[in-house]
Amino acid sequence: MSLVEQADFFLAHLGEDASHDRVHGLVQDALLALDELYGNRPDFAEWVGRLADIVTRARDARPTSLKMLDAARSGAEADWLQRPHMLGYSAYVDRFAGDLRGVSEKIPYLKDMGVTYLHLLPLLKARPGDSDGGFAVTDYGAVEPRLGNRDDLRALAGGLRAAGISLCLDMVFNHTAREHEWAQKAIAGDKDYQAFYHFFPDRVLPDQYERHLDQVFPTTAPGNFTFVPELNQWVWTTFYPYQWDLNYANPAVFARMLDAVLALANDGVEVFRVDSAAYMWKELGTDCRGRPQTHRLLQAFRALIGLAAPAVALKAEAIVEARRIAKFLGSGAFAGRECHLAYHNALMSGLWAALAQGRADRLGAMLGDIPALPHGTAWVTYVRCHDDIGWGALLDPERAWGASAAELAQLTQFYAGGTQSSFARGASFQVGGGGGFHGTNGTMAALVGLEAAQEQGDAAALDAAIDRACLLHAAVLGYGGIPVLYMGDEIALANDRDYLKRGVGTDGRWLHRPFMDWDRVAALKQPGDAPFARFNARLRAMIAARQGLGMLHAAQSNDILAGGAPEILAFLRGGGQDGLLFLGNFADQPVHWRAPAAPWPNMPASVRDAIGGGIMAWHDGGIVLRPYQAMWLVPAD
Ligand code: GLC
Repeated sequence: MSLVEQADFFLAHLGEDASHDRVHGLVQDALLALDELYGNRPDFAEWVGRLADIVTRARDARPTSLKMLDAARSGAEADWLQRPHMLGYSAYVDRFAGDLRGVSEKIPYLKDMGVTYLHLLPLLKARPGDSDGGFAVTDYGAVEPRLGNRDDLRALAGGLRAAGISLCLDMVFNHTAREHEWAQKAIAGDKDYQAFYHFFPDRVLPDQYERHLDQVFPTTAPGNFTFVPELNQWVWTTFYPYQWDLNYANPAVFARMLDAVLALANDGVEVFRVDSAAYMWKELGTDCRGRPQTHRLLQAFRALIGLAAPAVALKAEAIVEARRIAKFLGSGAFAGRECHLAYHNALMSGLWAALAQGRADRLGAMLGDIPALPHGTAWVTYVRCHDDIGWGALLDPERAWGASAAELAQLTQFYAGGTQSSFARGASFQVGGGGGFHGTNGTMAALVGLEAAQEQGDAAALDAAIDRACLLHAAVLGYGGIPVLYMGDEIALANDRDYLKRGVGTDGRWLHRPFMDWDRVAALKQPGDAPFARFNARLRAMIAARQGLGMLHAAQSNDILAGGAPEILAFLRGGGQDGLLFLGNFADQPVHWRAPAAPWPNMPASVRDAIGGGIMAWHDGGIVLRPYQAMWLVPAD
């Protein structure tokens, strides 16, 4: 069958809806991508038929309330993810509120903070014991019993939607647990299920692959392959030995995951976090990250999900170098037609690097090197998340701003509190793999120096730490895209030094996965000057200021202004007289920033800081910033 015939066949399956241009476009996208992935198989046409069935069934089963959302987002609300009021919050269900019902009870807290997007870390049924925090799924159709069930999930999604909050679910696309039924059948000898994974009879191919692969957990899970004694074979395991990478060269894997995603979409999940998106396709002689076929897979998922559940979006978690991340939002003919959102991990790691080094010129150069985002897409910006701060993304030898390994090792030491000038109380992650760097663990509060300052009872150090916390948050809240707060950071939670006693395993990332402190939240209602309350008040003021700033719409341009002062990160959002100028001083002393070019067509005599409130004179071609001060400037006259 030719592609045109395939398209007709697909459209015939879909029936009445097929007359829309939107539907035609999606069918075409899906078939182009699928053809590149599976087109040379003799049974390709059959697979297209099966996928059309899955899509049609899911579309027909979609509840009316969600179809209304589909209609809105296919029309007037197409830019919903880009809007300036979007604010995310990310949490583990159990650490935040015990279980899914508990999360439902916390909706008022989220709403009050201005949250419009809730990312819950994996909550589907996970293997017993150590499950990498739920990232080792045994059943994509069931909720982890200790957290609730599918009814609870539907109720939560509905409750959130009614409060104007979209539910984002972590979807572990890249691998299943060894205990998943598919893996168990493979172990039992079922050839069909063995084809769901990458098995090797000996070390010949694994060794060849290894020459080009990175290691995610070089200390605790070295290598990318695990021996399976029952089969006397090796299986591909990028992460922990119990996380078996799925083989997407097999269309059956694609079909099963599509089916699972669409069922959850019909429960009311609005965004899927595509976990470990970069790793989904393997190719000998490459680092197997972000291969062209990985992008085709995501494009095919996007198009097919769009046919059944148009309101639903995909968010790429691809922890790669700055120049590679934006590709997950689609490039070339597929620009804007892959994931809708992507984590800006380079911004995150770069902000922490700048803070330690007291200079932001190289961060600016790195950000300036990233091309404008495709139409309709947006970054997810963040200060901290449940993972370590990965330093590897800053090691980009092909770029002038790329950090050296020695420099990254220094950063690692700095954040582990191991250098003289360090204010941080973090811990190094997986540094045993050589090179002296990999990642850093610790909560935001611990890493900006709040923990240390409190221990020392040093008021000036405390002020500086709060200023650092506000600087980083001002940058991610002012960058454009969806800023996602990491649970507990809003009340400056400290490291969980007792994580080893909690039965979650020994993974060092548990250091920054504390339980929510609802007593602290309650204490926010009383006036007080506790450091967490001072930070919280300033954070909330920034969130409030954000809502009225149209220049924070993700579709606005974002231009890095280089050359004003090396300590200062400067970017201009949007052009014209309404442009919003972000300035952030990463140094521990005052710095005079001189504009390298006029930010606004008619230079004002004074400017207003939308987060500091004050009006200031434009002084000697620029403005003076206090240590760690951040500003969102607009002309005052
Ligand atoms: C993602 C998650 C991380 C997890 C890994 C393997 O990177 O963010 O927490 O360990 O995938 O699933």
